[in-house]
Amino acid sequence: VGGSLYAQQSKSFKEISTRDLTTIMEKNRSYYESGKVADYIPELGKMDPKALALAVVDEKGKIHSVGDINKKFTMQSISKTIALMLAVMENGEKTVFEKMGYYGTDKPFNHFANLETMGKPLNPMMNAGAILTTSLISGSGQLPFDKILDMVRYITNNPTLDYSRIVYESEKETGHRNRGMFHIMKNVGLISGGEEQLDNYFRQCSIELTAEDLAKIGYFFAHQCIRFDGDKRYKDAEMSKLIQSQMLIAGMYEFSGEYARTVGLPSKSGVGGGIVVSVPQQGGIGVFSAPLDSHGNSVVGYRMILDLAKQYNLGVF
Ligand code: DON
Repeated sequence: VGGSLYAQQSKSFKEISTRDLTTIMEKNRSYYESGKVADYIPELGKMDPKALALAVVDEKGKIHSVGDINKKFTMQSISKTIALMLAVMENGEKTVFEKMGYYGTDKPFNHFANLETMGKPLNPMMNAGAILTTSLISGSGQLPFDKILDMVRYITNNPTLDYSRIVYESEKETGHRNRGMFHIMKNVGLISGGEEQLDNYFRQCSIELTAEDLAKIGYFFAHQCIRFDGDKRYKDAEMSKLIQSQMLIAGMYEFSGEYARTVGLPSKSGVGGGIVVSVPQQGGIGVFSAPLDSHGNSVVGYRMILDLAKQYNLGVF
């Protein structure tokens, strides 16, 4: 943008400051009251509706964060991006997407009627596709999950990250709809393993992390899978394009189209209240606030991202 007449009008991502982040956070703080903490999985319903955090990893990999930055929450659907990366690394994109679509969605995350009509999941960001994706990661028992956890630990450079056994048990006990999808996919031959593969999906949803960890994940996919500290072990430009394109078209579920219009950035939400955002070639954003809107996206999280995108002119369009 150097030299452009218009460059002065909005701040660059490079100039991001914790002061600006604090202003954005405080401006939106009270909106938590209009959302509702997910309680369809009993253990999730215990989250503090007032906890709030906003983190950014800038172009240089520097972390800026405000609010309850040590507060952990479960990754939930955000883990689907990591599972997709591993499934594609092991099987190749072609094999994975022969079994599921690249389609966008106007349906909630647990919709699966298309399994009957199309014979395969719409995309890897909705539950059916995500459960199938995780089943495509090789290894018996818990090994596929261990690979997902290891990758999250690697990307965040945070080797102590783990999953919540209590949330996992709660997901497993109440996940009848997910179990239904799993068995339909077994019925049509898309999945061949046993329910331990579904357990790995429940485990990946239960991985606990912070808004800063999410910002690092956002950075990773925004930067050709290069880690925020410059480590290039998994560098792969095509992989980052694939993951970001799926985030853009399906990462916010049936709200994805409107979100693409208002924010215009590849993003992935989870019912734990987290949202990860990739700002292509620039950086990553991680937000956390548990109360959700009717689509399952964090109310305050969305508002903070919207303000950041406007103030720093971040949208890709
Ligand atoms: O019911 C499930 O599959 C969840 N544990 C994960 C879904 C999720 O985060 C969806 N949404 N935003």
